[in-house]
Amino acid sequence: MTEHDAAAGPAADLMVVAENVHKSFGRLEVLRGIDLEVRRGEVMCVVGPSGSGKSTFLRCVNHLEKINAGRLWVDGQLMGYRQKGGRLHELRDTQVAEQRRGIGMVFQNFNLFPHMTVLGNVMEAPVQVKRERRADVREHALRLLDRVGLADKAAAYPRQLSGGQQQRVAIARALAMRPELMLFDEPTSALDPELVGEVLDVMKDLARDGMTMIVVTHEMGFAREVGDSLVFMDGGVVVESGPPREVLGSPRHERTQAFLSKVL
Ligand SMILES: Nc1ncnc2c1ncn2[C@@H]1O[C@H](COP(=O)(O)OP(=O)(O)OP(=O)(O)O)[C@@H](O)[C@H]1O
Ligand SMILES: [Mg+2]
Repeated sequence: MTEHDAAAGPAADLMVVAENVHKSFGRLEVLRGIDLEVRRGEVMCVVGPSGSGKSTFLRCVNHLEKINAGRLWVDGQLMGYRQKGGRLHELRDTQVAEQRRGIGMVFQNFNLFPHMTVLGNVMEAPVQVKRERRADVREHALRLLDRVGLADKAAAYPRQLSGGQQQRVAIARALAMRPELMLFDEPTSALDPELVGEVLDVMKDLARDGMTMIVVTHEMGFAREVGDSLVFMDGGVVVESGPPREVLGSPRHERTQAFLSKVL
């Protein structure tokens, strides 16, 4: 891997660059030197055993967790820091929040606001955070709900929806901020099997539309069909990565083989 000049930043076609990213919680070293690159428009799927650091890595990408060493660029910006002369200076919370706006995140458990309607959920961030005009936000939100197949649920409350519908609202809500990058952390793991497909279809549609995505998932069919790259993580490192068909079809490392033999 090439060294990126911290001042100039990575090449313009790279949306995410992780260089030797380390993260510890107390004495537990969870990420032990992650190197990876995600091109603009790429869909990267991340798989690996429980506890391997997948969620932690996603949380580092949008700086919900501060890394202990290494560098992380998103959209050409060093996450959480500003380079001045040869030194790094930590950004203020408001500046980090600004960086984070370009990144949408979707979690396993939807995390919708229970007291707000579906439309209210999708409108909340652009109205409160971006202070956009209500009428414009509303129009955009309705378009997004239509896109995820939920135009008729705008007035419903989350508790009135199935898990698959709630997750599609969560995706619409993330898209309402017009992100450049979408992070998905096991978006279908909490769903009944018959609801998984409708959420994956929405993600497929996003991918076709050119969205850059990092998707932590156990859905190997999705990874094979939609993923441009597949990363296998174990023990806080990237053990193996490459085109999904290659990694899934002929894994090179023993640990990858052992993991895949359990999930495929
Ligand atoms: N805030 C935290 N404080 C302390 N330890 C943490 C914290 N967050 C995660 N960990 C630990 O870091 C390790 C990696 O966790 P992480 O959630 O990133 O794994 P994962 O690969 O996403 O696993 P899963 O497939 O179960 O979601 C685990 O041992 C976990 O207990
Ligand atoms: Mg996780």
